[in-house]
Amino acid sequence: MALVYVTREIIGDAMGRLRAAHDVVVWVKPEPPRPEELRAVVADAEGLLCMLTDRVDQDLLAAAPRLRAVANYAVGHDNIDLQASAARGIAVGVTPDVLTDATADLAFALLLAAARHLPEAAAAVAAGQWSTWEPTRWLGSDVHGATLGIVGFGRIGRAVARRAEGFEMTVLATPETPLEELLARSDFVTLHCPLTPATRHLIDARALSLMKPTAVLVNTARGAIVDQLALAAALRAAAIGGAALDVTDPEPMPPVDPLHGAPNLIVVPHIGSATYNARARMTELAVDNLLAALDGRPMPNPVG
Ligand code: GLV
Ligand code: GLV
Repeated sequence: MALVYVTREIIGDAMGRLRAAHDVVVWVKPEPPRPEELRAVVADAEGLLCMLTDRVDQDLLAAAPRLRAVANYAVGHDNIDLQASAARGIAVGVTPDVLTDATADLAFALLLAAARHLPEAAAAVAAGQWSTWEPTRWLGSDVHGATLGIVGFGRIGRAVARRAEGFEMTVLATPETPLEELLARSDFVTLHCPLTPATRHLIDARALSLMKPTAVLVNTARGAIVDQLALAAALRAAAIGGAALDVTDPEPMPPVDPLHGAPNLIVVPHIGSATYNARARMTELAVDNLLAALDGRPMPNPVG
């Protein structure tokens, strides 16, 4: 039996398999542990089941001398220092595939919500402002038949493309369509690449300036792929039609963020994988990764 530290309460029967095999301790507070709190609780841990809100960096690893396995409860792994983990011989795993459809669904939900002004329209009804049928108010843009640009054509990008077929959209995707051409031609641009040094601020002021003034940017990937200051400026200048974000930089979005109050903006709190099914299956994959690595076997879903 090894000590496994789990940094938040998570759903799914698979936790029972983890508890049957190891000593499991769970951080039960609603807020994630701060870095110094996390360092304190992992002192004896051999396994760590962590969230994208936890930074697994040199300092954390130094505080966890017995650590052998890290299972990230996410498909992304930009919160983990992979080099430092590899140098210590620590296995790192992620939860691919099981959240692909949930995330693609959310990207489409954001796209539709932005195109048809759903949040503002629903807020108006909630505020008692539905006084009559409006022939010229709440006008949005067509999703069916529009051109969708997909930046990052991995599992999630391809799942979004499948949904776009049902809406008879013209789909452009990188790298087949170069980014600049994609930005210039798309009515909706949706981001599905991982955050890496090469994709940080990929969507900067210049990229935004290439988009149509009516186009909507959707981001369900990672906030830092977009230069958020440039996005706030583009929205305020009406240089693009709108933005719908599941991710920001930083998260949570602070009350003083330049994006606050920008027009034609929807922000939801990083809920791409937030379905019962996706989260329960993420638990299965994370537990499978930990059980394998703590047993000296390769993780079924390692990073990379
Ligand atoms: C969520 O953002 C994930 O990477 O799983
Ligand atoms: C993530 O699952 C991706 O490959 O898009």
